[in-house]
Amino acid sequence: MSSRRLSEDDSTDEVVSAPATRGQEVADRSAHLAGAEGALLRCDEVVAGYVPGVNILNGCDLYVGDGELVGIIGPNGAGKSTLLKAMFGLVTIRSGTVVLRGEEITGLKAHALVRKGVGFVPQTENVFPSLTIEENLEMGSFQAPKRFAERFEFVAGLFPALADRRKQRAGSLSGGERQMVAMGRALMMEPSVIFLDEPSAGLSPALQDEVFIRVRQINRAGVSVVMVEQNARRCLQICDRGYVLDQGRNAYTASGRDLANDPKVIELYLGTLAKA
Ligand SMILES: Nc1ncnc2c1ncn2[C@@H]1O[C@H](COP(=O)(O)OP(=O)(O)OP(=O)(O)O)[C@@H](O)[C@H]1O
Ligand SMILES: [Mg+2]
Repeated sequence: MSSRRLSEDDSTDEVVSAPATRGQEVADRSAHLAGAEGALLRCDEVVAGYVPGVNILNGCDLYVGDGELVGIIGPNGAGKSTLLKAMFGLVTIRSGTVVLRGEEITGLKAHALVRKGVGFVPQTENVFPSLTIEENLEMGSFQAPKRFAERFEFVAGLFPALADRRKQRAGSLSGGERQMVAMGRALMMEPSVIFLDEPSAGLSPALQDEVFIRVRQINRAGVSVVMVEQNARRCLQICDRGYVLDQGRNAYTASGRDLANDPKVIELYLGTLAKA
């Protein structure tokens, strides 16, 4: 199956068909509606922005099924972080809806979403550097402190190095280790879905590999994942389905493998992969 182009520009590539007609756009929307039926989390036609009168997201659709690992790639400034923040109640949604297990959660604040089983690891400043690893994880479970020990065990099972160094300040950890702390913190409330914003950013290739392995482990432990990644090729390799976001709109969506092999996606978004 080739990926479907969802925006309305004028590509005529034979592999990736542009929705040249209104009918095609409707068909793409129908495909989203069919896939999103019964999904754990879904966004429909989300419009959001920061400054009055300027929309950054221009009608995004996204869904993640139970146990799915979904990737979002796209150029800088496409709105990837904004989409995660909008779903997590950190950016005002101007129109459209976000629904979790059939319950509308549009515009709910982050603390309420955490209680409902949504976790978020932001792109930057995602640990408290002056606190220890253990204290960072406590911050993650402050809404359910009695469960700390049990959840700590779970997180330590995924990231044994964190347990060994639980008394070390997060500020003294390497970038990769901090990323583990940030993911661990988000897992402390036993989320059913977590949003990860560029977990491999700024890490060495070896540490990037480790982060991708950890994300897979988290997913295999039963946590659905929505992951934004600058490392698009690696992201598409590990995700079940992917979305390409461009200028605040879904540009392409398909399985990770189909997107990674789509000549148009390679040409436009995967850079050097085209020459590989
Ligand atoms: N707090 C903010 N106030 C105003 N505009 C913002 C704010 N944050 C982001 N933007 C704008 O929204 C647009 C999308 O930004 P966003 O951070 O969502 O992009 P992104 O796809 O995550 O990019 P990157 O790959 O660089 O992380 C950009 O034009 C950016 O300048
Ligand atoms: Mg971003």
